[in-house]
Amino acid sequence: MKVLVLGGGGREHALIWKLKQSPRVTQLFCAPGNAGIAHEGATCIPCDLNRLDSIIEAAVKAAPDLVVVGPEVPLMLGTVDELRRRGIPVFGPTQAAAQLESSKSFSKAFMTRHRIPTPLYVQVHAVSEIKSALANFSAPIVVKADGLAAGKGVIIANTREEAAEAAEALLGGSLGEAGRHVLFEEFLEGEEISFLVISDGERVAPLVAAQDHKRIGDGDTGPNTGGMGAYSINGLVDDNMREWLLRHIARPVIDGMAAEGAPYTGILYCGLMMTAKGPQVLEFNCRFGDPETQPILMRLDSDLLEAFEASIEGRISDGVFRWSPDPSICVVMATGGYPGPYLAGKPITGLERANALDGVRVFHAGTDLRDGQIVSAGGRVLGVTARATTLESAVARAYEAVRCISFDGMQYRSDIAHRRLKPR
Ligand code: AMP
Ligand code: GLY
Repeated sequence: MKVLVLGGGGREHALIWKLKQSPRVTQLFCAPGNAGIAHEGATCIPCDLNRLDSIIEAAVKAAPDLVVVGPEVPLMLGTVDELRRRGIPVFGPTQAAAQLESSKSFSKAFMTRHRIPTPLYVQVHAVSEIKSALANFSAPIVVKADGLAAGKGVIIANTREEAAEAAEALLGGSLGEAGRHVLFEEFLEGEEISFLVISDGERVAPLVAAQDHKRIGDGDTGPNTGGMGAYSINGLVDDNMREWLLRHIARPVIDGMAAEGAPYTGILYCGLMMTAKGPQVLEFNCRFGDPETQPILMRLDSDLLEAFEASIEGRISDGVFRWSPDPSICVVMATGGYPGPYLAGKPITGLERANALDGVRVFHAGTDLRDGQIVSAGGRVLGVTARATTLESAVARAYEAVRCISFDGMQYRSDIAHRRLKPR
């Protein structure tokens, strides 16, 4: 079976790595891919993921038996709808279903309609509406752009004035179309959990839960990023909580989307805040998370291809995944400057030594091959991932691998999984 994965980040490298283990996968393609994905033996096809015509061109070229969509932008562009029209089997939600991620106002109104727990919010469309909207909130206040903004669309404002300024900038076009509508949201405190499920439009099965580290700096300081590291361990969500989340969040979403005529197939990523009053949904993503996918797939002992097929063919059941009890962790190595402007083209050394460590996989994100040398080519460069019998040993192994690797200006957090480790 020929499989094409769309994307070129750490998440896609992990997907390719796992799909390669499936006995029925004969050939792998990735558009556009990266140096690590090519090293796995996948054929990389140049592709602009911001353009539907470029995506379709890549898919036609690969002529795959299955397409797996990694990132959100192709979903928002209607890749799944177009591939289905052409008779190409594809794993992921349609454009209408992907509104759960591509439009925060859609997603918030949907959650309100279906009584899914989420923080209070007010939507504004014009500067003149800001003042009265803010009267509903006390500081801190969360300001969100309505559309996709690659992690840059959320501002936590410490005062009403700061919230008003942030909203004005968004409405004034600081993030382009994404900020044409703005939401103010109640600020919640608690631990964030990434709870992912797979659905076939009717049934759902949970994946193991993970925790991301969004801020750039140790101790959760500095600006938000796409995610600087994640881990997955049994008990992060216990059996009772998993049942609760399926019953009050995941299943109501799938039932609600079906009832509204936009059945949801694919991965549904529930970004949760575990508050003192219970879990609340901060956001939905209509895809695997990055970097959560790297540690999650490290724990998957069953065939990923079969899970994708079960979703497409309407056969999702609890048995679709088999998980290892072993914890796993991914440490993201980023370029200096990230999440702001960064320098690319820096040679990376030590990858082989890191990969040779027991239980370690180095997934590539922003990397490129130049004159036979692997160089940095993006903000997030590598996801150094390890699985071991205890979280402590997985963490130690991942950081041992990180220390093997070197490139100019590299930065990484040294405290991934700190909430689950005893203070050193
Ligand atoms: P989102 O894209 O909506 O998930 O927001 C990005 C990040 O901003 C989240 O992962 C949280 O760390 C933070 N955030 C978003 N909404 C809230 C909220 N209502 N209260 C506290 N933090 C939030
Ligand atoms: N790690 C957060 C995301 O994938 O959106």
